[in-house]
Amino acid sequence: MTQNKLPLVTFDPSGCFVSGTKLERAAFDQLAPRLEAARRETLDVDMRLLDDPASIPAEKQPLDARFIDMPERILSEYRRSRDSSELGRILATANRLRDQVDRVVVLGIGGSYMGARALMDACCQPYFNELSRAERGGRPRMYFEGNNVDNDATSGLLKLLGRSGTTVDSRWAIVVISKSGGTLETAVAFRHFLAALQESTGTDADLLQQLVVPVTGKSGKLFDLAAAIGCPEVFEVPDGVGGRFSVLSAVGLLPAAVLGLDVVKLLEGAAAMNEHFRTAPVGENAVLDYVGVGHLAEQQGAMIRVLQVWSKALEAAGLWYDQLLAESLGKQEIGATPITAVNTRDLHSRAQQHQEGRRDKLFTNVIVDNWRTDAVAVEPSDRNQDGLNELAGKTLPEIMSAAIQGTNEAYRGAGRPTADIHLPTTDEASLGQFFQMMMLATVVEGRLLGINPYGQPGVEAYKQNMNRILGR
Ligand code: PA5
Repeated sequence: MTQNKLPLVTFDPSGCFVSGTKLERAAFDQLAPRLEAARRETLDVDMRLLDDPASIPAEKQPLDARFIDMPERILSEYRRSRDSSELGRILATANRLRDQVDRVVVLGIGGSYMGARALMDACCQPYFNELSRAERGGRPRMYFEGNNVDNDATSGLLKLLGRSGTTVDSRWAIVVISKSGGTLETAVAFRHFLAALQESTGTDADLLQQLVVPVTGKSGKLFDLAAAIGCPEVFEVPDGVGGRFSVLSAVGLLPAAVLGLDVVKLLEGAAAMNEHFRTAPVGENAVLDYVGVGHLAEQQGAMIRVLQVWSKALEAAGLWYDQLLAESLGKQEIGATPITAVNTRDLHSRAQQHQEGRRDKLFTNVIVDNWRTDAVAVEPSDRNQDGLNELAGKTLPEIMSAAIQGTNEAYRGAGRPTADIHLPTTDEASLGQFFQMMMLATVVEGRLLGINPYGQPGVEAYKQNMNRILGR
């Protein structure tokens, strides 16, 4: 599937090769054959093996590679079968919720929540939940819980939601997402929110069933609970797709569709990145080049990877990447440490260290080329005590560009390796590309390092201890 017309996300590593960084273009060029091999290893997966995990060679297990061609598969099924396809059912459920409720609580943690949060923050109006229903295009407000066991946060949201009433404006619904179906944080939250919803719907079991939409694996505790409640729609987290690689499955698509986002564009963006990844050579390939400079930087001791997003709307996308990198490659006592910084905000908290601290960081800017709203300009004023009349007429995008350029010059001038990812804008197509770029890059990097990027065996230890302490 060719998506040539989409404006593409690009990656420019040139700021990594300036004097003082110890990263050299020649070393990057020498890495090309290894990057090519890692690309082959990433792509040359017999997806049929994923239907029968026992058939996967032991050294490759787990192998959650199905996220790679998932965008194309979901889109082609939708184009073939429309309403009866998975995406058709997601859109129908989203539209039903739009007509039935004014608020949706998404319960989930880790990969079962961070992508949806990133999409809402990046693609919706910044104060979406505070807009009137008409201003939201009739789309429900969205809240996220089940990502902690925080007493006050849970109580606060339950209080805010109140009783689910009889009118659309007062009614709310639950989208509960857990691949395993057994994650404690999400399960405990579901019990609370379900009880509150049931109290409101009283004996109307039919209504309760409609107001609960689970997204889960083919079996498990949540799957069983959904059957016991009688939920008419249960969406699947497919086998062979790991939690943090699942944003472009129903896990991210359903919340995005509920918000009224263009999920087809989101998937088309991801498919465009796939095509670019498969075909572009090292030196012109956003995924491979991103991995290449990250690898070289690590070899020079830059173990901390700072993703500097230059838009408030991208903070949650940065946190989504934090999880992806940390859980995928933080194994065998290696793997870079991710940090998200939101600039210009964090220039006032982190820039001192970034400019003069330890030389253990690689900086990757995420720059938005086109803002979604009209440029706001500094107005001239009779009260020029702030001295801003000399900036009169300058717009916030112009000031932001000056901040980006100024910071890049400062960091690069101090020999701090700094690369740029450019997003055409913060829309669904750009986010689809960004998600797919970073997921592919994480797998390629894992293959390059000899680390299995899938699975998260190290997360089990705290869970076992917590359950033991709880007497389970
Ligand atoms: O990447 C992963 O697999 C994890 O971060 C999971 O998404 C997270 O632990 C939540 O798991 P589940 O969806 O099974 O509740």
